[in-house]
Amino acid sequence: MNLVKDNPTAISEIVNLFDFERLAAEKMTKMAYEYVASGAADEFTLRWNRQAFNAIKLNPTILTDVSQIDAGISLLGLDLPYPILIAPTAYHKIMHPEGELATVRGAGAASALYVVSSFSTTPLEEIVKAATQPLWFQLYVRDDRELTKALIQQAEGLGFRALCVTVDTPVAGVRNRQDKARFALPEGVNTPHMPGGLAEKKPFTWKDIEWIRSFAKIPVLLKGILNPADAEKAVEAGASGIIVSNHGGRNLDTVPATIEALPRIVEKVNKKIPILMDGGIRRGTDVLKALALGATAVLVGKPICFGLACGGAEGVTKVLDILRHELEVAMILTGKATIAEIDESVIWK
Ligand code: FNR
Repeated sequence: MNLVKDNPTAISEIVNLFDFERLAAEKMTKMAYEYVASGAADEFTLRWNRQAFNAIKLNPTILTDVSQIDAGISLLGLDLPYPILIAPTAYHKIMHPEGELATVRGAGAASALYVVSSFSTTPLEEIVKAATQPLWFQLYVRDDRELTKALIQQAEGLGFRALCVTVDTPVAGVRNRQDKARFALPEGVNTPHMPGGLAEKKPFTWKDIEWIRSFAKIPVLLKGILNPADAEKAVEAGASGIIVSNHGGRNLDTVPATIEALPRIVEKVNKKIPILMDGGIRRGTDVLKALALGATAVLVGKPICFGLACGGAEGVTKVLDILRHELEVAMILTGKATIAEIDESVIWK
């Protein structure tokens, strides 16, 4: 008899983030599942994001005092109890009828910072009303710059604490799997803050970052940096932080895994601004590895979508609780009592 079920049939049977994906595949419409799970083109980068984490080995230290551990960090003026954020992902109402409201409640129960996507299917003011933790806003810069400015100011007025400007998507990637699943928003689901979708024709360049910074009152982070030279430019452009990301393998296929790109960017930025990263984080040990290689915090995308699909707010909370618990176990087993102690010594060389 097999005591370990590989395919959980209920959220109570779930023990790790991979279980969430298996259960979500059963629960979601095929179109929604394909939208979330797929990457661009041949999905090399999507796979590499995972393989690169798996290839990094850990080097534990024994007999240090890990009776009290603290996974807290401070990030751009916020104290967070652990360094895991919810990455911005679009269209939560195709994953669960309560959409972003379930996500924000799940984030609240897990004390996590939620980065709300421009492509939210719920008005920002409703999300803010349901929030019990700080929120950041992810911005797609529109051709219509007045509309973009109004959206930034609306987010500021609603109390969003930082802006993540996505810089890796002047056009969506070649999404073969999404196209095969005939992805389209169902009747009644819309994106109130992105009427008309992306459709970028006007150039979006470093000048626009300067323009945003000229009036933005909250910190501006750039999301989607992989090239160390661009990271250097981001510092020069006055970014308050950068997010090393390949958009979860959804945009340009065959760019490297983010955990592979991270060390070179860390070297270039040289501690001038915080560096966050996302892409393939599925285990507490992945979080530990990212921190060891110089990230201040990480974000998770697909697992949150699957948690939402499996169990609404409760599913989102469970994804975060599992990952946080796994990180804390990894800290104890590598002999690190605080996040500040996590450095390259935990990586086996
Ligand atoms: C995304 N991502 C994304 N990024 C962004 O800046 N704005 C967005 O609206 C979206 N939408 C979106 C939808 C879905 C379904 C996914 C899976 C991803 C990218 C996201 O913020 C993040 O970079 C990746 O998801 C991180 O990789 P993992 O954690 O999914 O492996």
